Amino acid sequence: MTNTIKTPAYVTDEKILDRDLGALRKIADEAACKLLYSPKACALSPVLEKVAGRVDGFSCSSLFELRLIDRVCGGETPLHLVSPLLKEETLGEIGGRLDYLTFNSLTQWELFGDKVPAATRAGIRINPQLSFIRDPRYDPCRRNSKLGVPISKLAEAVEAEPARLRGISGLHFHNNCDATDFASLLATARHIQDVIPNLLESLDWINMGGGYLFNLAEDTSDFFHAVEVFRDTFGLDVFIEPGAALARRAGSIVATVHDLFESDGIQVAVLDTTVNHMAEVFEFQFEPDVLGHVDGGAHPYVLAGCTCRAGDVFGEYAFDAPLAVGSRITFPNMGAYTMSNAHRFNGVGLPTIYTRRADGGLEMIREDTFDDFARTAGVAGNAVA
Ligand SMILES: Cc1ncc(COP(=O)(O)O)c(C=O)c1O
Repeated sequence: MTNTIKTPAYVTDEKILDRDLGALRKIADEAACKLLYSPKACALSPVLEKVAGRVDGFSCSSLFELRLIDRVCGGETPLHLVSPLLKEETLGEIGGRLDYLTFNSLTQWELFGDKVPAATRAGIRINPQLSFIRDPRYDPCRRNSKLGVPISKLAEAVEAEPARLRGISGLHFHNNCDATDFASLLATARHIQDVIPNLLESLDWINMGGGYLFNLAEDTSDFFHAVEVFRDTFGLDVFIEPGAALARRAGSIVATVHDLFESDGIQVAVLDTTVNHMAEVFEFQFEPDVLGHVDGGAHPYVLAGCTCRAGDVFGEYAFDAPLAVGSRITFPNMGAYTMSNAHRFNGVGLPTIYTRRADGGLEMIREDTFDDFARTAGVAGNAVA
């Protein structure tokens, strides 16, 4: 079936999405917590349309994401906004549609608190000051963090002036990435309970963020204990807002080999995709999974992207059968942070987007064109004959 695909392609598999969404729904229901989806992981229509109606809302990061979700869901789904940037015009344009608005800082709360619509629940993002991520580029609790009010500062502020948080009904935290067990979540919940118990008593809700790969966790008991800390001890509504856990396994990139040649003793296969399309591969310098790769396979290759960047390379892979010009290469588990980070460096178009329906049928959703490239370059007009 992959041969009918125009490459480079990004394919959403509805069956996998259904499976992973169902598993997340089940665990959220068992824990009696509310499940939001973070569209920053993947905001493509096949994903949003499937997710809509099966989650308790969307946790957005920007005005565009909010408007996109409203367009897909017809204005029917609960919307949350959490972002370090809040512009007055965003509040003016969509504030009335926000069910939950989380302020990133006390200064933003002081600036905009009186503009929060009456029906919108306001919260504060806290920095729990517990780091679990080694790479500071992705650690919300890094030194000099811009993400949330440090919990010790919040405790001091509330003690010095309890009225400062009047109007705030909830808290938000997010301090992990791709975790497959929940020990750090439970440690964070207990830490928050220890530092600001009185504040928790006065609130209605807490959002525990994303950062956990629920479907890969062998033991979820710490997740349930973390929810219990807030729900049972303080009577809070508890939210989670995963992105990758829902979207990652449902998406793949499919590419075609366009050239093969020897370089320093190994065959290089040049593909029609690039790290432009899988930006995290370049950012984290990891070798993505490739279907058909066999450790020690008889036919080794360097799989390379098609741009002029020397490091536009996926890594060394080996196959049982040799590749040829025209061979297809599939990168699975590319559903999260792939298309939302993809760009057109070198003028290479974005992957064509497909969805594989549950009955196996393949539908093209969008093809990137020269006109799209020209429009983003600010170049108007018709193609030159
Ligand atoms: C505030 C917030 N919530 C949720 C998420 C989603 O995280 P993940 O995709 O790791 O589940 C992120 C990711 O960066 C985030 O910053």
